[in-house]
Amino acid sequence: MDNLVDNLDTLLARIDPTRIPEHVAIIMDGNGRWAAGRGKPRSDGHAEGVSSVHEAVEFSSDLGIKYLTLYAFSNENWRRPRQEVDTLMYLIGWAIERELPDLIRNNVRIRLVGDIERIPADARRRLRDAERDTAGCTGLTLLMCLSYSARWELTEAARSLARRAAAGELDPADISEEMMADRLDTAGVPDPDLLIRTGGEHRISNFLLWQIAYSELYFTPVLWPEFGKEAYARAIIDFQSRERRFGMTSAQVSGLTSDSEK
Ligand code: FPP
Repeated sequence: MDNLVDNLDTLLARIDPTRIPEHVAIIMDGNGRWAAGRGKPRSDGHAEGVSSVHEAVEFSSDLGIKYLTLYAFSNENWRRPRQEVDTLMYLIGWAIERELPDLIRNNVRIRLVGDIERIPADARRRLRDAERDTAGCTGLTLLMCLSYSARWELTEAARSLARRAAAGELDPADISEEMMADRLDTAGVPDPDLLIRTGGEHRISNFLLWQIAYSELYFTPVLWPEFGKEAYARAIIDFQSRERRFGMTSAQVSGLTSDSEK
């Protein structure tokens, strides 16, 4: 049982630095409820959520995580009230521009994932600028999923393969899992080791459906604006307690571990 009075140093001491996940993906949920609980408009929850994004990026970078994927706006989120969508788009563009010098200083590379052409022009320009200006960064890669849904991504991949088959460039019998993965927005990025969802819901909400086939899932009731480094550290500690078998038996997995340690 986690001790609620654990401070960050105590938690950090429990993290095994040799078993840090390479890729963490996060469904950032609970901004609206955080705001409602304080009698504030939902937009205040999103604004507060930007601070948690900053902390998550910093903590991931400090731990040596190579990829952090954040679900910032789904395809389904376009259905929210116009005013909330406008505020979110403004916040995302403003936050990325404000954070850019810090991201570059910390060697963080931004990669945009999703149907970015749907993002309003001003926010899109700031996002593309950040992607371009961090292209040479070699530390943490921050994948920002915006106007993203996994079914959209998979449908696009299927279309792309179908076009090649229709043009006679590809035999459908030769289509492989690798060819599919290469056509996803996350091409070249290893699958997430750990998927975290904040805000207490236990669902995936159309996020990275292909990529999370063998990810460890971690659900926390903590609302996103309150998800700081302590809560993130608890997720990593929990992840390190899991045995990842990838369809094999426990004995096989421990055999693999001891073989690789020889
Ligand atoms: C879900 O909470 C959160 C979102 C739809 C938006 C998340 C976006 C941010 C935190 C800002 C991102 C900024 C950058 C720079 C990436 P919700 O509104 O669904 O909360 P609820 O479930 O309590 O209603």
